[in-house]
Amino acid sequence: MSDYQLTRLLDESAAETALRADVLRGLTRSPKVLPPKWFYDARGSELFEEITRLPEYYPTRAEREILLERAREIAAESGARTLVELGSGSSEKTRHLIEAMPALDTYVPVDVSESALAGAAEKLLAEHPGLRVHALLADFTKPLHLPDSPGPRLVVFLGGTIGNLLPPERAEFLHAVRSMLSPGDALLMGTDLVKEESVLVAAYDDAQGVTAEFNRNVLAVINRELDADFRTEDFTHVALWDREREWIEMRLRARSELRVKIRALDLEVPFAAGEEIQTEVSAKFRQDGVRTELAEAGLELVQWWTDSSGRFALSLAVADGPGMMP
Ligand code: AVJ
Repeated sequence: MSDYQLTRLLDESAAETALRADVLRGLTRSPKVLPPKWFYDARGSELFEEITRLPEYYPTRAEREILLERAREIAAESGARTLVELGSGSSEKTRHLIEAMPALDTYVPVDVSESALAGAAEKLLAEHPGLRVHALLADFTKPLHLPDSPGPRLVVFLGGTIGNLLPPERAEFLHAVRSMLSPGDALLMGTDLVKEESVLVAAYDDAQGVTAEFNRNVLAVINRELDADFRTEDFTHVALWDREREWIEMRLRARSELRVKIRALDLEVPFAAGEEIQTEVSAKFRQDGVRTELAEAGLELVQWWTDSSGRFALSLAVADGPGMMP
């Protein structure tokens, strides 16, 4: 069996500290809010994989269609010898890209899940025994120091996950990505696009209730990690389209007035009947907006590809100008 390298830039106690801080801050303010990254324990990751196969959830299929169609162009235009994937998860879609890149030397998957990194690395190495794999256990929203590897580099950020960040967080994130790039390097980013409200809402409120279960799973994570007593059945799943801000919001709504004990925080959280916790923002984009946000971070949009029904887009951007201010 081939080997891969793993660098841990994250440990369990750091994750635990971050969860405590997010829950304390998020559930003692009004309106209540929890960051979406806490959905993804083993059960949540499994539920997300199930979501990607739902008839209503088109983004994964649409993005795969573009990747399959454009893999050769992406490989040729980037000329990449190092592929860095932020939030790599199962690395399933990236496989198509790797297959189209014969000159690829190093693959750097970055994820917060060590089990996802190990699974993906082993599967990829079985198929590409000559590939160097240097996995990073890290939170990609924090500044990253990449391992040494040959350029040019292509950083990929797929799935539309950029939409989970609020506009100021997106600006900060894109600046951080820009700072990882040298002249000649590129960013490939997936974005879900603004479309008819009914299509968007159905993608986040499916008929089988898988997304509802995924949403409520964050309460089970808090119960387990922070010794809390949420009864998941006390909360209903809400998905709504904010037409002004052009984003989907997921919320959990208390069915009745209730109190929740979070023992690890020595905290009791009161809920009014109907009170909501915002659990996710999933922004949808237009080409102009993506171009502008990239440009503000010093990245120039050079390719924009959509799937055949125009639901989802892949952007290819390059670092513009010199890396440093004069
Ligand atoms: C993994 C962040 C891209 O926002 O569409 C799926 C997560 N949430 N269904 C998305 C998600 C509800 C997904 N991303």
